[in-house]
Amino acid sequence: MRNPALILIFVLIIPALVAETATGKYYEKEKICKELKVFGIEKFREMVTVLYSQKFPNNKFEEVNCVVDDMTKLAEKCCKDDASPDCYDKGATEISEKSCGKNSPYPKHPGIEQCCTLQGQEKKLCLASLRYTADELPSLLEPTNEEICTQYNKEGSDYAIRYVYEFARRHRNIPAGFVLNATQTHMRMVERCCHPAAKISCFFQERLQLAGSNMFLRFLSNVCNNQVNLKSYKYGLSSYYGNLLGATFEEASTISSHFQSGLEKCCLQPQPECIMEELTSFHKVLCNESKLDDTTEEFRKCCRKPALDTLLCVDNLKRQARQSPDLTNPLSSQLCAEDKPHGVDRYLFFIGLRHASISLPVLTTALDHIQTTVAACCSAADITACLMEKESKLNKTTTLLSKMDDTCSQYFKLDLSAFKTMIQKKEQGEGAEMRAKTWVELATSCCSQHSIPQLCQKLTQDIIKYDNDYGI
Ligand SMILES: *[C@@H]1O[C@H](CO)[C@@H](O)[C@H](O)[C@H]1NC(C)=O
Ligand SMILES: *[C@@H]1O[C@H](CO)[C@@H](O)[C@H](O)[C@H]1NC(C)=O
Ligand SMILES: *[C@@H]1O[C@H](CO)[C@@H](O)[C@H](O)[C@H]1NC(C)=O
Repeated sequence: MRNPALILIFVLIIPALVAETATGKYYEKEKICKELKVFGIEKFREMVTVLYSQKFPNNKFEEVNCVVDDMTKLAEKCCKDDASPDCYDKGATEISEKSCGKNSPYPKHPGIEQCCTLQGQEKKLCLASLRYTADELPSLLEPTNEEICTQYNKEGSDYAIRYVYEFARRHRNIPAGFVLNATQTHMRMVERCCHPAAKISCFFQERLQLAGSNMFLRFLSNVCNNQVNLKSYKYGLSSYYGNLLGATFEEASTISSHFQSGLEKCCLQPQPECIMEELTSFHKVLCNESKLDDTTEEFRKCCRKPALDTLLCVDNLKRQARQSPDLTNPLSSQLCAEDKPHGVDRYLFFIGLRHASISLPVLTTALDHIQTTVAACCSAADITACLMEKESKLNKTTTLLSKMDDTCSQYFKLDLSAFKTMIQKKEQGEGAEMRAKTWVELATSCCSQHSIPQLCQKLTQDIIKYDNDYGI
C-alpha cells in the first residue's frame, strides 16, 4: 500500500521530486532537473521546502531550511548543461553522509541511526521510508489573527517561507502545489489585513471568501492522510461506499478502488493537476447515471453540484448501517480464494457494512486485524483447521468492532460527562481504569469521520490488545 515509488518523493537526503522504480532505476537527476527547469529556482526552492517540512513536521524551521538550501544548491549546480554526469550523484551522496554525521545540521528523524548503518541504495530507501509515529506528531494550534500580524510584522520577508513550512507540516500528505497556493492566498490576506494593525473585519471577510477552498483542502488532507497511513484503506472504503450508496460488493469495490488508485497515484505528487483530474473523473464514477436511481435523494442532490463540490457534499452525508449475510458460513477455505467473488475482500466488506458510526480509520484498522488473521491461515497447510482454530479470535474482533460502533453512536448522543460515566460503568476488573481511559480517548479522537489516521490506528490497536489481554 505504501508504494515505494511514492515514498521516494520524501527521500530524506536524495529527494526525487518524482522517482520511478519500474525498472529498478532511479531517474532522480533527470526528474529534479526537469522540475527545476519548469519552476525556476525560486519556486523550486519553495517546493523543496514544502516536501521537507512535510517530511519533518517536528523539526525546527532552521534545520529544514538547511537541508533545503543544500538540495537546492546541488540541483542548481548539477543541472547546468556543462555539469559532469556524476555531479548530482556525488553531491547527493555527500549530503547523505552529512546527514548521518554526528553534528549534522539537518533535521534528525527518529530511526535515522539505523538507516545510517546501511549502505548505498538501501540507505536511501531506509531514509525515505522513515515516518513519524502517532506519538511523535506535533499538535499544532492555529494562530489567532493578532498572532499572525505580529509574526508578519516581525519576520518581514521571511514570513512567507515560514508560512510554507507551517502549512506544510499541518498538511503532510497533499501535493506541494496546494501548499504553495494556500501560502499565496494567505499572503494576500495578511498584506491586506495587517496594516497598520490586525483588522478583524478584514480577516473575517477574507476567510469567508476562502471557506470553500479551505474545506476542499481539509477533505483532501483527510483522504490523503488515510491513503498514506492506513494499511487496509481499501477494505474500509468499500464498506463505506456500500453503506453510502446501498451498493453491492462488486459495485462498491469498483468505486473504492477507483478512488483509492487516484489517491495512491497523486497525493504525494508535487503538482495539483494529477489529483484534480482524478477527483473529477471519480465524480463520474460515483454519480454514475445508470445507478443514481438506487441512491438516496440526498445523494442525488450532491451529485448535481460541480465535481469537487459533490465530493465535499457526499463526504458530509451520513452512512446507513446495513444488514449483511450471516458470516459464519464463509469461514471456510473459500475465504482464501484469490478470484472474486469469493475471498476475504467480500467477507470484510460484509463485516464493514454493519458498522456505520465509526470512522474509516477505526473500521479499517479493525478490518485489517481480521484480514491479517485470515491471511495467516491462508498460507497454512490445513486452511480449514486453521480457520476453525482462529474462529473465536475472529469472533472477538467482530464483537469488538460492534462495541466500537455502539460506543461511537452513544458518544454522538450523550454529553461528554454522561458518556464518560457510561464507559466507566462498563469497564470492570483488572485494568479497568486504563481501558476506560482508552475507550474515552478513542471516542473523543476517533468517532468523527475526519479523525487522524495514525492516532486512531494506534488507539484501535490498543483496544484490540486490551481485549485480548483481559477478555471482554
Ligand atoms: C488556489 O487558491 C484559490 C483560492 O485562493 C483557488 O480558487 C484555486 O482553485 C486554487 N488552485 C488550486 C490549484 O488549488
Ligand atoms: C456506469 O455504470 C455502468 C453499468 O454498471 C458501467 O458500464 C459504466 O462503465 C459506468 N460508468 C462509469 C463512468 O463508471
Ligand atoms: C462465532 O460466532 C458465530 C456467530 O455468531 C457462532 O455461531 C460461533 O459459534 C462462534 N464461534 C466461536 C468459536 O465462538
